[in-house]
Amino acid sequence: MLPPRRRETGSHTRETRTIGASDDAGERCDRIKPVMLVIPADVLRPRRPDDHFAAEAAAARDAGLDVALVDHDALARGADVGRAVGRVPPGDDVVYRGWMLTSRRYAGFADALSSRGATLRTSAAQYRRAHELPGWCTALASATPASTWTSGHERVDFDRARRALGSGPAVLRDYTKSMKHYWHEAAFVPELEDADAAWEVACRFRELREEVDGGFVLRRFEPFTSGEVRTWWIRGTCRLIAAHPDTPHDAPPDDLDLTPFAPLVAGLGLPFVTVDLARRTDGAWRIIEVGDGQVSDRPPSIEPDELVAALLPD
Ligand SMILES: Nc1ncnc2c1ncn2[C@@H]1O[C@H](COP(=O)(O)OP(=O)(O)O)[C@@H](O)[C@H]1O
Ligand SMILES: [Mg+2]
Repeated sequence: MLPPRRRETGSHTRETRTIGASDDAGERCDRIKPVMLVIPADVLRPRRPDDHFAAEAAAARDAGLDVALVDHDALARGADVGRAVGRVPPGDDVVYRGWMLTSRRYAGFADALSSRGATLRTSAAQYRRAHELPGWCTALASATPASTWTSGHERVDFDRARRALGSGPAVLRDYTKSMKHYWHEAAFVPELEDADAAWEVACRFRELREEVDGGFVLRRFEPFTSGEVRTWWIRGTCRLIAAHPDTPHDAPPDDLDLTPFAPLVAGLGLPFVTVDLARRTDGAWRIIEVGDGQVSDRPPSIEPDELVAALLPD
């Protein structure tokens, strides 16, 4: 997922597989006018798209889509939301591509758009189900590390979730993000039964994260061998497979078989999600994380027009 205003550094282009893409993009574009792409405006030049999403905005315009700009900072603050979306015209199938919003702020965004006659393809409830781990984890339990979570942030809540997961090593995050860049301090729990050491990791996580989004999540540690693959699913169908933006040089292997995952992801009933997978040391592919596709970072190996084409109705 895109953290607020993180800049992408990778620029290497790698192989991307496009699944079910039309051979005739021009013909397709004539049929897709109803889709509208909404993109954050540049902070200093509000009539221009934010640089990070400018290529997607241009690709959408080239494909004949309407593109509208919003003030992401105002949406993220939940202040002056009506003005933040003031340039969005009415539309039946609005797709946002932009910086992450909390589920609560996304709901405010959806309401403000709705009062202008613009309907997001992904409802606020659907966004929450994709964006927050408790929204998808139970449905994907057979394919993702065992997990427990809290609704509060206190030690008593944490200890309950820790005990429920049992013993052995674990990984800590909250409903939406880990602090993976602080692995030993704030992500990896060497032994769940060591209550004080585990809580120390949680305290460091809380300190670094500033605000725990939702609650704590503990996940049983599984040993992975590969970089992650990010897969992009539109209404339950995988449309793009590419490297994860964190490991842009690890092209997805040819033997990655998504067949076992397809019914699980389709069962989520979500319009646009990403699913990150990694290979475990025993060879099994596992789901690391689901994200709302609107706020998932696009790796450099997916061209903007490929992503736009995937968003078009069949
Ligand atoms: N259960 C797990 N076992 C081992 N490694 C994990 C596990 N869960 C996450 N990781 C590692 O931690 C990283 C971050 O976890 P992730 O849930 O994707 O959070 P983020 O939203 O910060 O990317 C993953 O890329 C993976 O390398
Ligand atoms: Mg991740």
